[in-house]
Amino acid sequence: MNQPEFQQIDHGQVLLASAQFIGGQVALSWRHAAESAQFSPFWLRDHCHAKHSLNADTLQREVDTFSIPLDIAPAKIDIKDGGRCLSIVWKNDDRPSTYPAEFLWSMVREEGRGRSPQRTLWDRDTMGENFPSATQAEMMGSDAGLLRWLSLVEEYGFAMVTEVEATLAGVEAIAKRVGYVRETIFGGMWQFSANMAFKDTAYTSAAIGPHTDGTYSNDSPGFQMFSCLALDGSGGDSTLVDGFKVAETIRSSDPKAFEILSEVKVPAHYLGDGVHLQAEHPIIGLDRHGELVQIAYNNYDRRPFRLPSARMTEFYRALTLFNRLINDPTYEISMRLLPGTAIFFDNWRTMHGRHSFKGHRHMCGAYLNTEDFRSKLRVLRASAAAGAVTGAA
Ligand SMILES: [Fe+2]
Repeated sequence: MNQPEFQQIDHGQVLLASAQFIGGQVALSWRHAAESAQFSPFWLRDHCHAKHSLNADTLQREVDTFSIPLDIAPAKIDIKDGGRCLSIVWKNDDRPSTYPAEFLWSMVREEGRGRSPQRTLWDRDTMGENFPSATQAEMMGSDAGLLRWLSLVEEYGFAMVTEVEATLAGVEAIAKRVGYVRETIFGGMWQFSANMAFKDTAYTSAAIGPHTDGTYSNDSPGFQMFSCLALDGSGGDSTLVDGFKVAETIRSSDPKAFEILSEVKVPAHYLGDGVHLQAEHPIIGLDRHGELVQIAYNNYDRRPFRLPSARMTEFYRALTLFNRLINDPTYEISMRLLPGTAIFFDNWRTMHGRHSFKGHRHMCGAYLNTEDFRSKLRVLRASAAAGAVTGAA
């Protein structure tokens, strides 16, 4: 379901062929594509790229949208710069508007969505045993190394960091290399062992099935990292499942179940430690284009709710299918996190769990926000495109 990547379009090829005012709309066509598009004059004035209307550095709108007459109309339309630019002179406005052809094309093709993440969905067989990874020195040592590692996280929904300094400060440095450590009910950088310091299953030695964290939060943590500070015992392997792979499997094999899982908002709660959080999410979150955005599933934390009888029956059928697939070993990878290794994963995509263990296991980690991860990638990619980051993948 990934859309064509906006940045893959050769901007040199985006040239306007014609521009006409017809039926109250500005009709545009391009040289490189058969499709044409209509833009309303009001939208065009609101999205003017001239200096007086748009801050080129921050992309903040400087035009006063609400002073634009609702019946604004062009007096003159021209294609300039060999097709690279549209120019409009407005009636009753002495400031002409300009638009790069590639901007207008991007709004036709992408509706302003920008770059879609390039994802490789995986199961146990396709992932194999060579997990995406970088050493701490690589991802800490240069922007190119960080960009390569973050791109792996984006593509696969997780990546390892090896040769990690097995201290809380060492792991915190990795998190802060990406973005802000998020404060939650568990603190900022957290540590856990089987001591029930919090009223959460993570703080026991029991096996935990695949789930995402924070279903009880309106903004579930976007990314999570774990590292092991000390291990003396057996078992306790960490498990991961590509929730998007499971979701796409259901989309293609059982559309009705997919519809239920993506439509029904499942309430969840966290009660204890002086807090009582509640939120609700569909198990499979989609954007308005039908693209996967977020898996939110933790059966332990589901809050009681009811649907009309027939819908409730369908929901339990879909829930059972989802639960069966995420617990199917063909979708699961596992790893023994020894001190010196960290795992960083997309909590909106990659479900995590662990096998039961005996002995002492001291873990630490952090939550980070999705928006900060995406921001870091955009900034690094822009720098790489400008030549400021060398050797980037
Ligand atoms: Fe968890």
